[in-house]
Amino acid sequence: MARKRVAILISGRGSNMTALVEAAKDPAYPAEIVLVLSNRADAAGLARAQAEGIATVVVDHTRFGKDREAFERALQAELEHHRVELVCLAGFMRLLTPWFVRRWEGRLINIHPALLPAFKGLNTHERALAEGATHHGATVHFVVPEMDSGPIILQDRLRVLATDDADSLAARVLEIEHRIYPQALALVARGEVAIGDR
Ligand code: GRF
Repeated sequence: MARKRVAILISGRGSNMTALVEAAKDPAYPAEIVLVLSNRADAAGLARAQAEGIATVVVDHTRFGKDREAFERALQAELEHHRVELVCLAGFMRLLTPWFVRRWEGRLINIHPALLPAFKGLNTHERALAEGATHHGATVHFVVPEMDSGPIILQDRLRVLATDDADSLAARVLEIEHRIYPQALALVARGEVAIGDR
């Protein structure tokens, strides 16, 4: 079966992007990374993608002012140009409008550093500690218009230690992220999970 053509959208460091790129080096992996797209020219992940020989593009959201759809039409044009079939958000710090999300329904996935539906949004590790959560983790889910709310593809969790601070928790959750994101993308690329059957 042909490998699915995947774009990864980033805004920063790109460690999850790197995990996906590494997984896709295996010829048996069902997806290939054909594009890394960032809304920020200073995203560190861009250099890594370039070093791997992957096409990169910057679509600077600030050029579009408050017009989110104009920004997304520019994203869409890049995705079409590169004949992208699946989109992975990996630390992409822009909210996407229903216009874009519906267009990619079932083909757009995100990684979130918490056990959804707990701790949607930002600062998940601080909030997990503040609330005394006994467990924490990471989630890969399909993206729907409502933030951090789509059907869950994969999750894994860890026990919060009495000695944990936000940094130690973030580091251990990140290890989970790097493990489950490639697994989840493979499931979607092989058609083993789909949004339609919830
Ligand atoms: C990760 O924790 C991811 O779950 C969240 O943003 C962070 C991005 O990190 N959405 P990186 O850019 O993949 O290193």
